Amino acid sequence: VTPAPVGGRGRCGALVPAAGRGERLGRGDPKALRLAGGVPLLVHAVRTLASAPSVDVVVVAAPVGRVEDVRALLADVQGAQVDVVEGGAERQDSVRLALAALPADVDVVLVHDAARALAPVALIEAVAAAVRAGTEAVVPGIAVADTLKQVDADGTVVATVDRSSLRAIQTPQGFRRSVLADLHANAKPTDEPLTDDAGLAEAAGIHVLVMSGSDEAFKVTRPIDLLLAETVLAQRDSGSA
Ligand code: CTP
Ligand code: MG
Repeated sequence: VTPAPVGGRGRCGALVPAAGRGERLGRGDPKALRLAGGVPLLVHAVRTLASAPSVDVVVVAAPVGRVEDVRALLADVQGAQVDVVEGGAERQDSVRLALAALPADVDVVLVHDAARALAPVALIEAVAAAVRAGTEAVVPGIAVADTLKQVDADGTVVATVDRSSLRAIQTPQGFRRSVLADLHANAKPTDEPLTDDAGLAEAAGIHVLVMSGSDEAFKVTRPIDLLLAETVLAQRDSGSA
């Protein structure tokens, strides 16, 4: 059964969890405020979301204690209304807090990691379009490049996993607003915090569609990812990407 397309104007809001510390990136500011091409990762992400034709409003979950700094950084963003709230202890908390600040007339929601700062407009538009067309939950994914092995606690290989059926999942992840709101309202605290929102949908038995992701939607996680971000930005500047 295909759900009905989103009716009415289908106003679209993007939630941007940006409250993480960036432990894997190492010493320094919270990750969302670290620079690539001289501009904070969060500013790249919000500028691109706001410039996407689909996106009407952006709500950022800022690092604890940095709400005013983030508001100032985003003050001149064009193309969408931008609101900033303080994030929470886990990513899931940050998304829930941003969702609570979303205007009532938004019915398509994108959740997009600030750390995926260079995700292109075309990907944002494709995810939003899938939700408008009636998909309850949609995530971008790309094929896995490495050979994947399951290991035990001693580091001994248990098995080689067939990677052909695996996808590395990115953001923006798109949801019908009512679906995401129900998921977060009913989410129980788990021992292992979820690293994305589709995980909540899967646990609730909701159909999650995987669509083609983008190499440029990589997550800045480790120091080498900042080098990649610099290179992608330099190539964009030179007009060749
Ligand atoms: N995030 C958040 N609130 C948290 C934790 C994470 O909003 N309490 C956000 C991050 O800012 C990031 C996204 O969720 O944009 C994905 O998380 P991740 O890449 O793990 O970022 P960090 O948690 O900051 O990095 P690390 O796990 O290395 O500390
Ligand atoms: Mg993290």
